[in-house]
Amino acid sequence: MPAPALVFVGFMGAGKSTAAREAAAVLDARLHDSDRLLEAEFGSTIEAFFDAHGEAAFREREEALVLRLLDAADGDVIALGGGTLASARVREALGRHLVVHVEVDLETAWTRAAGKGRPLARDRAVFEARYAERASTYRSVARATLPPADKKVGRRAARALRDLADAPAGTQLLWATAASGDYPVLVGRRLLGQVPWPLGGRRFVVSDANVGDLYAGLVGEVSGLIEIGAGEEHKTLATAERVWEALVEQGATRADHVVAVGGGVVGDLAGFCASAYQRGVPVIQVPTTVVAQVDSAYGGKTGVDLPTAKNYVGAYHQPSAVVVDVATLATLPPEEHAAGYAEVVKTALIAGGALWEQVASGVPVDDATILGCARTKLAVVREDERDGGRRQVLNLGHTVGHAIETVSGFARYRHGEAVGLGLLAALRLSGQEDLRAHVRDLLEGVGLPVELDPQLDAAEIVAATAKDKKRLGEHTPFVLVHGPGDVRHGAVVAPSDVLAAVAELHG
Ligand SMILES: NC(=O)c1ccc[n+]([C@@H]2O[C@H](COP(=O)([O-])OP(=O)(O)OC[C@H]3O[C@@H](n4cnc5c(N)ncnc54)[C@H](O)[C@@H]3O)[C@@H](O)[C@H]2O)c1
Repeated sequence: MPAPALVFVGFMGAGKSTAAREAAAVLDARLHDSDRLLEAEFGSTIEAFFDAHGEAAFREREEALVLRLLDAADGDVIALGGGTLASARVREALGRHLVVHVEVDLETAWTRAAGKGRPLARDRAVFEARYAERASTYRSVARATLPPADKKVGRRAARALRDLADAPAGTQLLWATAASGDYPVLVGRRLLGQVPWPLGGRRFVVSDANVGDLYAGLVGEVSGLIEIGAGEEHKTLATAERVWEALVEQGATRADHVVAVGGGVVGDLAGFCASAYQRGVPVIQVPTTVVAQVDSAYGGKTGVDLPTAKNYVGAYHQPSAVVVDVATLATLPPEEHAAGYAEVVKTALIAGGALWEQVASGVPVDDATILGCARTKLAVVREDERDGGRRQVLNLGHTVGHAIETVSGFARYRHGEAVGLGLLAALRLSGQEDLRAHVRDLLEGVGLPVELDPQLDAAEIVAATAKDKKRLGEHTPFVLVHGPGDVRHGAVVAPSDVLAAVAELHG
């Protein structure tokens, strides 16, 4: 049985040929580029053939060549022209191969393709229409997604792409990039124990009292297991110290890595421990809650709480991989599912578009929602790893949410529950009353609190927002919503308005 090929697809100007060439070099695989092969066959440029014979004749020749390539491929690397997937026969033939979507944003694609004689890049309106039309086709056939505007990404992702062929059917790979490093994110079902482990060296699992028994054993060959207490109250420096001591006792070295198996508490704490243990060892995140699978496992923010201030001590430490086994959510208690839903709504508001429409319709969180949230978070972090600007939008609902958690001693509300209340306050401050009513219904629909415990004092919560880590000088900047897909950071809001928005949560 011939091995599947890695087939690179994407819109004009995405850099498919470069990515394919880079990957083929690392994998020592045969490389084919359908556009170059067609030009050799025509004895002219594609533009000249297109102009002389028209699009239909070009597509016919292209389809025939691509079908031959796909049929003969045995572990090869192939770059396909941007429009090839319009052919149903080609899409069918791709079934036995592994399709890699090289993303590109519209502006970059236009800048790269226009003015170069490309027949379909002569008219901006036609170009835009094709871009929109093809985007969903690429996504629907791809098993892997590479981020835009990165010439060397094919080289760095090559091995992970090859290993994807051995992962359980349906596993998706998103290649995450950030200023300080990049890594594969694998999303699928029953990945634990099945997926080729993304990193060499010994594995030291950190998990919590609930999750350890359920999933730590599935990680495979493990050299050490460290269990912490479950819940936010254990996300402390004292717990971190215990983990470091246990790593020393178990003999973990810099050639080894930490595997964080659990929710956001385990992920943040184990990531922090990995960032500092022997001045830094790799960490692989294995998120097992909705919060962690849609948000906290990606982006490299790690840390612990101080008694008076949430997430106050930490480090940026990007994971070396994230393994998202959606099947682990089957054992998650319903109230934890609900808490995660607040982060789903937040992420969908940031994303807008198809993800918002899906979430706004009130359907339960499924694999596609988790993948959509992961894409959204990775895109934000790619732009701004260290919270200098755009990343602050991820704090939507968190300024008030964190203050509620702090004032209630991290015990009254789950993180996601507090974020849900914080979202309602942020939408009030944004003057988005209709959207607020819609979000309130969504949160209430999954059983999340939409009114604040009357015992909690609004003024005290507002005072706690002053401790927010995003505070600059006199102001705590707020993230406000101008509409789904239009979320902006850095708004200055009068303290009296914040007080009114929080007090209003008392109902
Ligand atoms: N680093 C980031 O970017 C980021 C982003 C968002 C949230 N966070 C942090 O995440 C934390 C909240 O995470 P969380 O909501 O996942 O809480 P959590 O880690 O406390 O998990 C919630 C509960 O579910 C249990 N659990 C986890 N997975 C399970 C499973 N599959 N089956 C059964 N039980 C399971 C846990 O033991 C725990 O009792 C907060 O500390 C928050 O600050 C971090």
